Amino acid sequence: MTKGRGNRLRRKKLFSLFMLVVLLMTLIPVAGVSAKEDLLDTAKKRGELRVGLSADFAPFEFERNIDGKNEYAGIDIALINKIGKDNGLKIRIVNMSFDSLLGAMKTGKIDMIASGMTPTPEREKQVDFSDNYMDVDQKVIVKKKDQAKYKSFADFKDKTVAVQKQTTQEELAKKEIPDASLTSLTRTPDVVMAVKTGKAEASIIDSIVGDAYLSQNKDLAYADLEFGDSKKETAVAIPKGNPKLLAAINQSIKDAQDKGLIEEYQKQANEDMFNDGTFLSKYGSYFLRGIGATILISILGVVFGSLFGGIFAFMKLSTNKLLKAIAWVYIEFIRGTPLLVQVFLVYFGTTAVLGLDLSAFMCGAIALILNCGAYIAEIIRAGIKAVDKGQMEAARSLGLSHAQAMNKVIMPQAIKNILPALGNEFITVIKESSIVSVIGVSELMFNAQVVQGASFDPFTPLVIAAIVYFVLTFVLSRVMNLVERRMSVSD
Ligand code: ARG
Repeated sequence: MTKGRGNRLRRKKLFSLFMLVVLLMTLIPVAGVSAKEDLLDTAKKRGELRVGLSADFAPFEFERNIDGKNEYAGIDIALINKIGKDNGLKIRIVNMSFDSLLGAMKTGKIDMIASGMTPTPEREKQVDFSDNYMDVDQKVIVKKKDQAKYKSFADFKDKTVAVQKQTTQEELAKKEIPDASLTSLTRTPDVVMAVKTGKAEASIIDSIVGDAYLSQNKDLAYADLEFGDSKKETAVAIPKGNPKLLAAINQSIKDAQDKGLIEEYQKQANEDMFNDGTFLSKYGSYFLRGIGATILISILGVVFGSLFGGIFAFMKLSTNKLLKAIAWVYIEFIRGTPLLVQVFLVYFGTTAVLGLDLSAFMCGAIALILNCGAYIAEIIRAGIKAVDKGQMEAARSLGLSHAQAMNKVIMPQAIKNILPALGNEFITVIKESSIVSVIGVSELMFNAQVVQGASFDPFTPLVIAAIVYFVLTFVLSRVMNLVERRMSVSD
């Protein structure tokens, strides 16, 4: 290596190090902003209170369909609407899985949790709880035909007990039925489904929610068992150190209790849960909207992913070591980590690190685009590499510049390798996009889960989702076959 090149390389390295430091320095202050202001004031400035919940928990919170329009309903919804009204604040509901709620509040995605949450000493270390607004009991659900089999908790030795992840029920099961094997699932309908399908012998659930499931599933029953301290409370959680917000919430709760509103909320919720209509007339629109969102987010993933992929493919093919290295790191990182992790990184990272308040859909789309970008980069690179070396040499010897040869000779041939693989990528993305349901993007999978919760039927919505995914990918792969055949004719 000549001295000049060595110097240039060192300068380049220094430059990239400098850029990294600059990047980090811009990020640190953003991450470090500590909100001294009481959240009540912050929300008032914003005009909006962001409330996190997991709408899989009727009658506390669930989704329902009114004249084709999606709506949140339940005791918690009525209560937070009152809190909003009492304080002149609009309510924005952020629906996500129960086990993501505390993290979302910690990273500032939401201002408050109203999700049938039970105050526990563990949780009280992380958040402040409002006053209690609803007592609940703990119940064990089993198949009706097994009801007589379970007379004590010891009878569950080596049996499977299903609970919702990171709930008080999970704690209770660990403590009271330690000999059972525990299955923790993300959503309440899945917990009930586990018992229905025999994957689990029992599940533990808050009584108010269990009552709703039992009324809709005649094959299920409560086991004749009682926990030692089964009486629990329900409260709203907010980040620590916001006395004004806490006082405002407690004021609304007290007012609701004084006026007997909580019982009214509960009565209304019970009515809302069981409005009549056929399965499709009640829930069809969820699937339709889900399909729309799945197609949209997949197209975004593939189109912008192709743009990214193109750029990174050329970076990786370039002779510039730095560009090559960046592309290499990006592609290897994305291909070496699960999409699920990437989705959460984008979702929490955009707020915690970058200080941006992006919608779940935006975060899901960004994660899919970044993910697709890496795979498509490799597709494009392989497509270009697969064109015979002689083609470039021949083009150059005919007097074409490198760029001209690329444009006129190499790329047209490379496209034929790339297009079919891109089609496969599209099919993959349609299926993989179901993962963004974890952060609350209401695509097909998410909406199927909503219907599970709303209909208390854990199975049918999944079958419908599976059929829809299959039809989408099957049609797409037929179309791709056709295109491929056309292209091979033109050879
Ligand atoms: N009460 C239980 C707890 O605090 C379960 C709450 C589950 N809530 C829900 N929306 N899925 O852990």
